[in-house]
Amino acid sequence: MSRIFFMGATGGVGHRLLPQLLAQGHEVTALHRKPEQADYLKQQGAKPVAGDMMGLTRGDYKRLLQDHEIIIFSAGAAGSGKDRTSKIDGDTPALLADLAEELGIQRFYLVSAFPEAGRTKGLGEGFEHYMQVKKAADARLVKSSLDWVILRPGTLLDEDADDRVSLDYALPYGSVKRGNVANTLAALIAKPTIHRQIIELTDGDDNISTAVGTLSRNT
Ligand SMILES: NC(=O)c1ccc[n+]([C@@H]2O[C@H](COP(=O)([O-])OP(=O)(O)OC[C@H]3O[C@@H](n4cnc5c(N)ncnc54)[C@H](OP(=O)(O)O)[C@@H]3O)[C@@H](O)[C@H]2O)c1
Repeated sequence: MSRIFFMGATGGVGHRLLPQLLAQGHEVTALHRKPEQADYLKQQGAKPVAGDMMGLTRGDYKRLLQDHEIIIFSAGAAGSGKDRTSKIDGDTPALLADLAEELGIQRFYLVSAFPEAGRTKGLGEGFEHYMQVKKAADARLVKSSLDWVILRPGTLLDEDADDRVSLDYALPYGSVKRGNVANTLAALIAKPTIHRQIIELTDGDDNISTAVGTLSRNT
């Protein structure tokens, strides 16, 4: 059982992951930006903390992160503009990595993206910016002394898990159900021996616990 600070707990991946973390016995502090989300998070069994990533300062995060052991970051600006993307998808996970080192929060799980996402699709400058920012956040975490895991899912589908995935250090690009991302994160968090790994994830043919077990044997 660990004390987890969860960024993005109300999102498409996050709301599917949160109940699993609580079922695993973790204590979860969940950042949220809309007042009405506090009751939902409390009902789930998490501790809600109000805050908007666009305004939170280093000092705010330092205070909020005290006494936690794991950071999970599955938040995202979701295409809401370049400035917001820079702040939410890039600057914030990098700042949290700094603070995790400073505060001794050893474990950090970051939801990133396949580097070849959207390739040849001409998705525009905003998407290119998103990809650069996500990569910069990955690079900051890789450079850290933390026990990080960077999970790179393919294009997210808003569907619950069917527990059938492909999970490996390099995969052909594909899509993945948000539920499968959540279940994979839950399984990875339950296996702390898997760390300092960049792992790709798409829907596929393997059972999640088998796929995570295979990775675990290879670490
Ligand atoms: N879309 C794709 O195909 C794709 C592919 C690969 C990777 N990813 C990555 O996968 C991750 C999870 O995606 P998802 O679909 O679960 O995301 P999502 O549904 O858009 O959820 C984003 C989360 O971030 C929170 N958030 C956004 N702005 C915030 C702010 N200013 N302050 C505080 N919280 C804020 C949202 O809170 P609210 O509930 O208030 O909105 C929500 O909890 C993201 O990092 C994304 O970049 C996405």
